[in-house]
Amino acid sequence: MTDSAKRKILVTSALPYANGDIHIGHLLEYIQTDIWVRFQKSRGHDCYYVCADDTHGTPVMLRAQKEGKTPENFIAEQKANHERDFAGALIGFDNFHSTHSAESKELTQGIYLKLKENGHISSKTINQLFDPEKNMFLPDRFVIGTCPKCGSEDQYGDNCDNCGATYNPTDLKNPRSAVSGATPVLKESQHFFFDLKGFEGFLRDWLSSDNHVQPEVQNKMNEWLDDLRQWDISRDAPYFGWEIPNEEGKYFYVWLDAPIGYMASFKNLCDRTDGLNFEDYWNKDSNAEVYHFIGKDIIYFHTLFWPSVLKGAGYRTPSAVWAHGFVTVNGQKMSKSKGTFIKAKTYLEHLNPEYLRYYYAAKLSSKIDDFDLNLEDFAQRVNSDLVGKLVNIASRCAGFITKQFDGKLSTIIAEPTLLNEFMEASDSIAELYEAREFGKAIKQIMALADKANAYIAEKEPWKLVKDDQTKQEAHEVCSLGINMFKVLVTYLTPVLPALAEKTQQFLNLSSMDWSNAQNVLTNYKINKFKPMLQRIEMKTIEKVIEASKEDLAAEADKESTKALSDPIKDEIQFGDFDKIDLRIAKIAKAEHVEGADKLLKLQLDLGEGVLKQVFAGIKSAYNPEDLEGKLTVMVANLAPRKMKFGLSEGMVLAAGPGGSDLWILNPDEGAQAGMRVK
Ligand code: MSP
Ligand code: ZN
Repeated sequence: MTDSAKRKILVTSALPYANGDIHIGHLLEYIQTDIWVRFQKSRGHDCYYVCADDTHGTPVMLRAQKEGKTPENFIAEQKANHERDFAGALIGFDNFHSTHSAESKELTQGIYLKLKENGHISSKTINQLFDPEKNMFLPDRFVIGTCPKCGSEDQYGDNCDNCGATYNPTDLKNPRSAVSGATPVLKESQHFFFDLKGFEGFLRDWLSSDNHVQPEVQNKMNEWLDDLRQWDISRDAPYFGWEIPNEEGKYFYVWLDAPIGYMASFKNLCDRTDGLNFEDYWNKDSNAEVYHFIGKDIIYFHTLFWPSVLKGAGYRTPSAVWAHGFVTVNGQKMSKSKGTFIKAKTYLEHLNPEYLRYYYAAKLSSKIDDFDLNLEDFAQRVNSDLVGKLVNIASRCAGFITKQFDGKLSTIIAEPTLLNEFMEASDSIAELYEAREFGKAIKQIMALADKANAYIAEKEPWKLVKDDQTKQEAHEVCSLGINMFKVLVTYLTPVLPALAEKTQQFLNLSSMDWSNAQNVLTNYKINKFKPMLQRIEMKTIEKVIEASKEDLAAEADKESTKALSDPIKDEIQFGDFDKIDLRIAKIAKAEHVEGADKLLKLQLDLGEGVLKQVFAGIKSAYNPEDLEGKLTVMVANLAPRKMKFGLSEGMVLAAGPGGSDLWILNPDEGAQAGMRVK
């Protein structure tokens, strides 16, 4: 390839959240991207594929706390898990980095300072819900309450699962903190805003030109463009993320630093790769191409915020953002209870990654429609196409070459016109890959495979080989078969890199690059054919589903024993302990609380006519009738707290992991209400 025809291409997939495991839904995206990248590389372009873990934000911070780990330790473990899963799925990143990295910090703070210098940042004081117990502001998803529209309970602070309404967390009725259960209060805080509204003109232009986004996305955009607002890019401590320079206690919202993670990962790669220059790809006059593959749920961030931030900070903008739809399994949203929420790890323990890569490729297009993985169709399609058609070509021909013809292909092959047809499909298949029409590319490749099989079936080399008169023809037919197989595998190399490697060894090839389709192998020594791919058995798929159900059970179990592994809290002094007034209390009355799914309302008798009302989260373990008359231990001097259902004037002591395994501390008969516990 001439240097001028050689493209410089940087490709990304969305950065997976550090607090989740990779599942087969995610894999659609990484496989789609990986196929496109492998295709570009096989065409001889300079193409780099980078990604990273998306590590910052409140969910990661709280999850690490819950597991008794530092956020740094937690994200390091998750990164190792993600890297294992991606390697298993044959995703060939050139770099997999982290947003909690030196490059990310430097670039994020640098971009912010440039935005500020260019007048795109403002600040104002806003009111936000605050958890007075945890001492933290609550992200929308961490406020739970009753939907203001339909009255459905236990809804998140941003939208209602029941009626689909979207609202502000302050609109929820009876709000409570998902972190502590406390009733949140409104609190003022200074926030920093990116002037998205100021980029309206730029965005209208950018979104409507040069195929920066898919046509479906363009339509959606017009609605959004009419309603651009200032974008809140700051969060208050405590927050796991990068501090805003010169603004103490203020952190960048995770969605600001997340896409900058693309640059950070690439920077990290450049810093350790000779001849690879960050500026060549990112400065505003760059002639390199930059593409982002994403899911349809994060279009807004990538087509409005991200180009504007880049523009505002003086960098180049993406060449295109390409969104795909969501994976459903057997026609429905992936479901934990049905066993269709299949983690990459579970899939890979039972099945070959190339099955999934092939099936995804066969059904992918450049559109953003959702994508159904029907498991039965999956097995059938893979068995029929890959095992029954593709590999079959080689296995039918190779044996004769090895046994009858000394492992050598003939000097001339039968029907050069047929092989020509295979080689001439190169351009049209390449165009389909380029346009992300993988399904159409596969269709064309499989039509050729059908032709190859029909040809071999018609010629019946297994008969020809038996007669000395026709033996030479058998040699030429089988040699053509092997050549056709080689061309097809070359076209499928972006999808099936492991099968391509096996083919490369089988045929002694120096490379499987795209142009490899054009050399005809004649008078050429090949190796003994070894089986390349097993059929998928439905019972293996059933195993995957069963194992996915077990994953769910194991998680529930981990959840319930978490309390046991909670680290012991910081040491206290005797004085601290002495402040706690523990008393024996008799449960005088216990009753259900209307509308509460965890609480019981208790009247506790402390003797001498002292009664206290306490709400205790023990409904899952006790019927109220069984509690009346029993003794328990309570913290008698805890400051009363106003809860959603009334005043709670203390706390009863209970132990256990939760659910039905929860025991109220039940003193011996000798105890009497009101006694001090010391
Ligand atoms: N961390 C953000 C992305 C930040 S990019 C600067 C995020 N992470 S994610 O882990 O939730 O998702 C990663 C990618 O996987 C997203 O593009 C998302 O759309 C995609 N998918 C997650 N579940 C999916 C399916 N069920 N089906 C297809 N893609 C899915 O979003
Ligand atoms: Zn609702």
